[in-house]
Amino acid sequence: MNKVLIINASVRKERSHSRKLTQLFEKNWQKKHPNDVFTYREVGLEEIPPINEKWISSAFIKPSERTKENQSGVALSDALVKEFKAHDVYVLGTPMYNWSIPSGLKAYIDGSSSYLGIINRFEIKSPFYAIGQSKPSHTFVF
Ligand SMILES: Cc1cc2nc3c(=O)[nH]c(=O)nc-3n(C[C@H](O)[C@H](O)[C@H](O)COP(=O)(O)O)c2cc1C
Repeated sequence: MNKVLIINASVRKERSHSRKLTQLFEKNWQKKHPNDVFTYREVGLEEIPPINEKWISSAFIKPSERTKENQSGVALSDALVKEFKAHDVYVLGTPMYNWSIPSGLKAYIDGSSSYLGIINRFEIKSPFYAIGQSKPSHTFVF
């Protein structure tokens, strides 16, 4: 059984093409992998706050050495990274906004994957081991 994380970044609901594509992906994937389970991570309709000074001054401190204040600065990142690491397959549905990604997706990347890279530096001392997965994973982007 695989755990599939579907990340939707459009600020639109029913009219969103990228959401339709991730829904279609889920339908087809489920036919082939009926035991797999899906989690939806919303970064378009729900606000992921941008990182700020409190986040930066907390993220680069070893988790074991953080004060309560530091811990609160990265609480959401801790939750997002925990969720990310608990999955095996990643599906991203995102629009292009002004030749770039939506701001919610950028905030998610700053607050989760860049944070994951920082955490991995503490844990395994390799700057190149960004994702930290020990098992094979698949990533799909629409
Ligand atoms: C603010 C804004 C900026 C956009 N910028 C681009 C762009 O730079 N290039 C492009 O091809 N489409 C651009 N689009 C079009 C969207 O990528 C397109 O409508 C897409 O289907 C939106 O995703 P959704 O259907 O999942 O909401 C832009 C749309 C918006 C609202």
